[in-house]
Amino acid sequence: MKLLAIESSCDETAAAVVENGRHVLSSVINSQMEEHRQYGGVVPEIASRRHTENIIAVTQKALNDASVCLEEIDGIAVTYAPGLIGALLVGVNFAKGLVLATQKPLIPVHHIRGHIAANYIAHPELEPPFLCLVVSGGHSHLIEVLGYTKFRIIGRTRDDAAGEAFDKAARAMGFPYPGGVFLDQAARQGDPSVYKLPRPKVEGSPYDFSFSGLKTAVVNLLHNASQKGETVEINNLAASFQQAVVEILSSRFLAAAEQFGYKKLVIAGGVSANSGLRKRMEDECKRRGYALYQPPLSLCGDNAAMIGAQGYYEFLAGHTAGLDLNGVASLPIDAE
Ligand code: KG4
Ligand code: ZN
Repeated sequence: MKLLAIESSCDETAAAVVENGRHVLSSVINSQMEEHRQYGGVVPEIASRRHTENIIAVTQKALNDASVCLEEIDGIAVTYAPGLIGALLVGVNFAKGLVLATQKPLIPVHHIRGHIAANYIAHPELEPPFLCLVVSGGHSHLIEVLGYTKFRIIGRTRDDAAGEAFDKAARAMGFPYPGGVFLDQAARQGDPSVYKLPRPKVEGSPYDFSFSGLKTAVVNLLHNASQKGETVEINNLAASFQQAVVEILSSRFLAAAEQFGYKKLVIAGGVSANSGLRKRMEDECKRRGYALYQPPLSLCGDNAAMIGAQGYYEFLAGHTAGLDLNGVASLPIDAE
């Protein structure tokens, strides 16, 4: 079964053709990051306008690259939630137009379910159940993936998402938006033991995260140093910050794996590209004899191939939509 998948939830306009949920025939991503960078973050209205301009060319290229025409496609999968509502609506309406023209099934896909499914593409042997750490720009969750379309949230962030924390700390350190990847590069050159940063805990909720105190500690440290005329070694501060985030995430993830009896661990979302997190989880899982699955760097960020992968399993579960499908800005992953 070949699905055409459309993704437009944030600042990437993406289309892909995916066969049977696992085999990517094409994947095209048009990123608007450079344009949003000058504003220090994604400007929703600009994102919607660029999606509107680019979505047809991106989709045509995905079909051409896969050497298929619309008639050969068996269904249209589209990200309908969560995300920037104006951005989502561009993809949803475009997908509905294609469905109206072709009479193919319309398959709504939850963006975070898609991030998890990026791992199905990269690891053909991977099947639920497993425990998943989802760390993206807007979401940080510990999730039991009980089946391809069955999820149970066991931990979440109480404030900033992990990617958001990276981006805010990176901004304070003077890196361009989105700063996660620049902070990661700097951290590799730094010594994490130079600056002492907190590891905030959420009282009574052992699997929840909190990052805002950590981000504030970075901002205060920089502020105090500048008031005293001291210089801060940014590589060392980046390394200290990254180590703190990695410890917060990995300690909860590993504790939950032990408590709930999972030996199959999966990481998903943009922050799964972080070198510190990957290395720590590889070492810890090796030591404990756990199987660890992470997406290749090319599938960590937003793309439509992951939507096509999850779309296949949503279709098998009978999850199709009518032409009244709407976008939803905020929707839990376990919503039916
Ligand atoms: O999943 P994603 O592409 O978008 C959302 O669905 O939110 O995640 C983007 C987030 C951004 O916050 C970005 O800074 C972060 O992932 N990110 C990283 C790295 N690469 C991307 N954070 C830390 N280290 C990285 N190497
Ligand atoms: Zn994403």
